[in-house]
Amino acid sequence: MQWTDELRYLPYSKWSAAKLLELQHQAANSKYQLKYHIRPISGLLNDPNGFSYFNDKWHVFYQAYPFGAVHGVKSWVHLQSDDLVHWENIGLAIEPDTIYDSHGAYSGSACQIDDKLFLMYTGNVRDKDWVRHPYQNGAWMDKDNNITKLKEPLFAQSEHTTDHFRDPQLLKIADRYFAILGAQDKETTRGKIAIFSTTDFKNWQDHGYLDMLDLDFGYMIECPNLVFVDDHPVLIFCPQGIAKENLDYQNIYPNAYLVGKNIDLENAQFTPSDSKLHNLDEGFDVYASQAFNAPDGKAYMISWVGLPEIAYPTDAENWAHCLSVVKELTYQDGHLLQKPVKTMTSLRHNETTLQGMTEAKRTDLYKPKQNQYEIQLTLAADSNGTLHLAGDDQLEHSLQLHFDTKDGKLCLDRSKLDLIFAEEWGMTRTITLPKHQELQLQILIDHSLCEIFVNGGQKVLTARFFNKPKNTQVSLISEAKMRYTGKCWELFNM
Ligand code: FRU
Repeated sequence: MQWTDELRYLPYSKWSAAKLLELQHQAANSKYQLKYHIRPISGLLNDPNGFSYFNDKWHVFYQAYPFGAVHGVKSWVHLQSDDLVHWENIGLAIEPDTIYDSHGAYSGSACQIDDKLFLMYTGNVRDKDWVRHPYQNGAWMDKDNNITKLKEPLFAQSEHTTDHFRDPQLLKIADRYFAILGAQDKETTRGKIAIFSTTDFKNWQDHGYLDMLDLDFGYMIECPNLVFVDDHPVLIFCPQGIAKENLDYQNIYPNAYLVGKNIDLENAQFTPSDSKLHNLDEGFDVYASQAFNAPDGKAYMISWVGLPEIAYPTDAENWAHCLSVVKELTYQDGHLLQKPVKTMTSLRHNETTLQGMTEAKRTDLYKPKQNQYEIQLTLAADSNGTLHLAGDDQLEHSLQLHFDTKDGKLCLDRSKLDLIFAEEWGMTRTITLPKHQELQLQILIDHSLCEIFVNGGQKVLTARFFNKPKNTQVSLISEAKMRYTGKCWELFNM
């Protein structure tokens, strides 16, 4: 199929139910399909939106283009959950069907106001000359999940920005509602975070751009969000086109974070506690993560596992991407920690204990029925080798994790998989570890997705991988004798 602009922006009502069913069937039957992660029912999924707690349930929406693995006209699809693990898909929530969102209901957030959930999102509109006009829109969701859009936008493009002005996060602070938006400054064409506020949702005050680190963040900042983690304000955002001197990254676009001492939205001041920008995820595929503080103050985050402008193997099956597991954020001893939410343990069954010394060069640890499991592994200090995941019997094809706990290095390597993709952006991702210390790994595997939490969530490496489903061998190869301990569990479907 040739994806012309005309086709990508065709109204949803013009597609037949039969076509949609065919696409749903195709996605459901893919050998690469995820079984305990949020995935598109059909077509393409991108950013998580409106992650929130409302009416005794967790809610998340995702950016969806249901008719193919392309970035067509976007909508929001809604899911809800009792435990942040089992998600029920409620279906299409915000359709791009008004003059203020005709070319896409783009990313945004949710905030409870009285007994309703207020959804704030960017309406992407193109005029007849294909000029973009972003609108910041609102909609109410009631306790029965009925959504009613506001008739008029909350506000339109800022006079200070180009048409790249989107992805509002709405936050209530004291008696005001603040919207934090991704923006491109008109004068300099540099990426900024714009701050607006209101008390009545009619009059909006422009607080200017957030003063954060004195850095050039590239030409655009997408998906900014502010979350409080153990009393530290943390800014999570996607600086597009940022120089590698300012952030060491390899993906086409990074998802970064900055920890602060203090934030004053009124005066658009963020005081960093650390002068360094960090990668939120050290793997290949995380972007547009969204975090929020639950009513109990805890900070939760969910990420898009996918990147803009990168072709993925499932494109050929007309579906693409997924969301990560929900990660709880904490801050300890100067580190932002990310861990899968505790309720994830409800998916575990068939526990296997791993313990021993590697003797020969190769030690087979585990061979699950399918690539749908969790493994926790502690590898001894001062050791060196490779952990193979999703391997064939000869370990010729596998997802590899090279470790060196002497010099302190961990390298995730996608170069030996059956299907190679995104080669242009490198086949390995390497992080440093504390030297001469044991290494703790918690790894979640879901068919074509691997999430690796290192040393209690100090670093995370997320990667899509595409291997034959029968390749499930988990083995350790080490040069010398080394001690390992751990556990594995099969995981239920969500
Ligand atoms: C990030 C992004 C957002 C935009 C959305 C459109 O991936 O480009 O800036 O709102 O996706 O789907």
